[in-house]
Amino acid sequence: MSKKQMMNREWAVEAQGLIKVFGDNRAVDGVDLRVKAGTIYGVLGPNGAGKTTTIRMLATLLRPDSGTAQIFGHDVVKEPQLIRQLIGVTGQYASVDESLSAMENLIIFSRLLGLGRKASREKAMELLEEFGLTEAAKRPLKHFSGGMRRRLDLAASLIAQPPLIFLDEPTTGLDPRTRNQMWDTIRKLVKSGSTVLLTTQYLQEADELADRIAVIDQGRVVAEGTADELKQSVGTSSLHLSIRDSEHVQHARRRVEEVLQVKSALSAEGGKITAPLTDTNQVADLLIVLREADIHLAEVSVQKPTLDEVFLTITGHKEEGARG
Ligand SMILES: Nc1ncnc2c1ncn2[C@@H]1O[C@H](COP(=O)(O)OP(=O)(O)O)[C@@H](O)[C@H]1O
Ligand SMILES: [Mg+2]
Repeated sequence: MSKKQMMNREWAVEAQGLIKVFGDNRAVDGVDLRVKAGTIYGVLGPNGAGKTTTIRMLATLLRPDSGTAQIFGHDVVKEPQLIRQLIGVTGQYASVDESLSAMENLIIFSRLLGLGRKASREKAMELLEEFGLTEAAKRPLKHFSGGMRRRLDLAASLIAQPPLIFLDEPTTGLDPRTRNQMWDTIRKLVKSGSTVLLTTQYLQEADELADRIAVIDQGRVVAEGTADELKQSVGTSSLHLSIRDSEHVQHARRRVEEVLQVKSALSAEGGKITAPLTDTNQVADLLIVLREADIHLAEVSVQKPTLDEVFLTITGHKEEGARG
């Protein structure tokens, strides 16, 4: 059977009620997902939300306690061998040889997958070129930066050209330039026909890349939709107000909620009010109202919503332990 024949064309991933419990920790607590073939799907959530555990179940690396999942129509528990031919998981090849060069490592992976000597060499050169690693091809891996390693890891997982690629936080900790390169690479993968399921802690990343996004919190999907749909629920931007006199903060907050017709949040220190904005023009109305109420501001700014705010708005609580 060819890979094409093994695949249900419409859905790359379908999961119903996935549950994984570690001790008394419900790491994944009833997750449903549907990823259309040929798209990028983002699973967005803070540290500890259950992203990696979900991916490991979908990639047949961990058995669900309950629930079912299919990859291109094949059951993850009943047909793991077949599924492993259809997927790539980054991090899978973490045990690359540090003393060998990037080129040598890629050739070894190719040979392991059954490619001949010449084909392996060609494949390795092609991938190094595509991932912008040609310059560093001959250097031993131990001299590679974090970003280069990530790209090599991704390159290695693509030798088999899997129709579905799981990328677990592909850009966490990367500098902005390297992150942009990763994004380009991921877009290229999808152009060439792959489906990508990636996890991220960054709203902006999901926004840039993903056709659809599932927001996951404490093992559950708390929102699902396109980036635009999610943003509408959070506001396209967010307003930050610092109130000069602390005794006016509660009063100011009520005014903000009245004018903007939203729920606001108060910073831990108590002086700063944050609220979602759907229309930036509302800021002018609000400033007039505050002036008339004799409330003085120390600072005003309009910013892009952060993951913090998405969570606050969608889940009604502040995410704990996540990076800012
Ligand atoms: N192998 C494991 N054994 C015990 N607890 C685990 C294990 N893997 C993950 N967890 C816990 O499950 C929860 C979800 O973890 P994880 O899926 O890694 O989240 P994320 O990838 O979103 O950061 C966390 O509370 C984590 O500590
Ligand atoms: Mg993780």
